[in-house]
Amino acid sequence: MWQEDAEKRLDSEGDRLKKAALITGITGQDGAYLARLLLEKGYEVYGTYRRVSTPNFWRLESLGIFGETSLIPVELADTSSIMEAVRIANPDEVYNLGAQSFVEASFEQPIATADVSGVAVTRFLETIRQMKPDTRFYQASTSEMFGSTGNYAMALSEKDILNPQSPYAAAKLYGHVITRIYRDAYDLYASSGVLFNHESPLRGLEFVTRKISNAVAKIKLGLQKELVLGNLDAKRDWGYAPEYVEAMWLMLQREKPDDYVVASGEAHSVREFVVKAFEIAGLDWQNYVVTDKRFLRPLDVDCLLGNPSKAKAQLGWSPRTRFQDLVEIMVKEDLRRWERWLAGERFSWDAPNYPSEARILTRAVRM
Ligand code: NAP
Ligand code: GDD
Repeated sequence: MWQEDAEKRLDSEGDRLKKAALITGITGQDGAYLARLLLEKGYEVYGTYRRVSTPNFWRLESLGIFGETSLIPVELADTSSIMEAVRIANPDEVYNLGAQSFVEASFEQPIATADVSGVAVTRFLETIRQMKPDTRFYQASTSEMFGSTGNYAMALSEKDILNPQSPYAAAKLYGHVITRIYRDAYDLYASSGVLFNHESPLRGLEFVTRKISNAVAKIKLGLQKELVLGNLDAKRDWGYAPEYVEAMWLMLQREKPDDYVVASGEAHSVREFVVKAFEIAGLDWQNYVVTDKRFLRPLDVDCLLGNPSKAKAQLGWSPRTRFQDLVEIMVKEDLRRWERWLAGERFSWDAPNYPSEARILTRAVRM
């Protein structure tokens, strides 16, 4: 069946009409925004999702692109499912966004994190090397690989030392290095984006920014009484996710593969995010926020600040949404969601379903 898709991308001379992209982790925040961007650019978009009892398509639905993408069940710990996805999608570009991406959980599940966020990168690179070596590969690397730099403003660039401080960061460092090794050893087009934190209304609820914006909205509407957080002093360089997926695409359009830092160039503390978010809702944060050591990590990165000069110079990429606007976008969207929920509306974001218009691709069957 999938061969039909590949054939549809060819004209009568056998030349390509459309590029095909395969996005791992299309059900995540970045996967959904990237899928939308690539569809806008005319790509045939294939995405991988996890086969679980209740698949998680709410982000694709909320962007209105659920029926536009072809979905392939892939478990990143399973090489054969990765090979199958590459065979089905026959991609020009692969964006490897799938990962266990929650730093805190990596302390609880270090081995699974090493496998899915680290070793799986080699599974992909090896599959591409053996099956389709002309594929362009993007690896979702992370600012977490830098580790702590002291709580001062040192803007980190591609040349700075990597010193991971979590099992997640260690796994990602492996993925980052193996990407470079495959590029140098086998001449694969493989690039790494070292992305600093990027957020949006599609962010998972366990990450601090969305935990805050969601709680502020619920507190404002009388649905929650307090917000329990961990380290309020940690600083992050927060940007707006839809802009960061543009940088991923730009990286794969360069003549040669390379690594790029993508960041806003500003760092703010968790406390600043909290103050601003409550302020936007007209509330005083001190009446609602408590801290609990349950949310402290065995090791935490105190400050991350990025220097995106290379991305600006070579990709022509610059951040557009600033901190204040980001907080406002997130709080207002969560307020809107909960207001609609109170009015009796129910959405896919709080009740994930399995809509029938999906183009789910498996070994032999398209449903
Ligand atoms: P996310 O929302 O957590 O999405 C992760 C995706 O990976 C989801 O689609 C998830 O599927 C999938 N996944 C997890 N385990 C899997 C497994 N074993 N097999 C197959 N798929 C699996 O993350 P994100 O924020 O979009 O980030 C995208 C990528 O960029 C990640 O690799 C992350 O580590 C990296 N990154 C993110 C940031 C950031 O600030 N957002 C910064 C730097 C790097 P489910 O939907 O089923 O869970
Ligand atoms: N999640 C969470 N929950 N974090 C809290 C809380 C809380 O209640 N209270 C304080 N924090 C602090 C964390 O200790 C951390 O210092 C900071 O808020 C940010 O935490 P997260 O939002 O969980 O993100 P992260 O920086 O650990 O990781 C994210 O960004 C990385 C890029 O630097 C993830 O998206 C990673 O996948 C990504 O690689």
